[in-house]
Amino acid sequence: MDHKIAPSILAADFANIQRDVEMINNSQADWFHIDIMDGVFVPNISFGFPVMEAIKKHAKKPMDVHLMIVNPDRYISSFKNAGADILTVHYEVCDHLHRTIQAIKDEGMKAGVALNPHTPVKLLKDVIQDLDLVCIMSVNPGFGGQKFIRNTFNKVKELKAMITEAEASTLIEIDGGVGTDNAKLLVDCGADVLVAGSSVFKAQDPITTIAQLKKLETIVKSV
Ligand code: DX5
Ligand code: ZN
Repeated sequence: MDHKIAPSILAADFANIQRDVEMINNSQADWFHIDIMDGVFVPNISFGFPVMEAIKKHAKKPMDVHLMIVNPDRYISSFKNAGADILTVHYEVCDHLHRTIQAIKDEGMKAGVALNPHTPVKLLKDVIQDLDLVCIMSVNPGFGGQKFIRNTFNKVKELKAMITEAEASTLIEIDGGVGTDNAKLLVDCGADVLVAGSSVFKAQDPITTIAQLKKLETIVKSV
């Protein structure tokens, strides 16, 4: 399968949100990645429903919504109404993960689970068949622009093996510190979806950077 690119709106210019959404519409990006932070599960607050609805109004590609919030079950139908196509919850906040996954699917969305850098991949073994997506956090969630954690490569390989073994069709998404320097290696390890915030929006030419991520051109940053 061809890998997907999901630019993270967190790094966009919120005073020019329509312009940035149109840029993604006109690029080779596949999804919009939408980061929702509650200031409780993570030490930052991003944005909520009004902003999400504003993005949805212009977005012509699926909305991949990453919930970094406690009690995600309370808001599943609200996120559906705000336009989410894929809804990802964090493993670390779900006492009844299987029930949460079913509730997301019952609303007609694809269901994803995100793992913090310290959370082992093997904990998903008994639900892997039920998951449309696993998001491996390659930074500690809460902020854009952080340094990629290299142990992610091992986690991607381990998760890929688990998915293959289970004959599941779960997609592997990588979120945090992804750019043209590590995209190819991640896809070689088994990644299917690359989230990219700063590397796209801080680039001189975001459309070209998205095309490079899509082509897996390796461009190593000078330090
Ligand atoms: C981090 C978010 C990421 C973030 C990625 O908590 O989940 O989606 O926006 O940003 P970069 O690509 O800048 O690391
Ligand atoms: Zn995210």
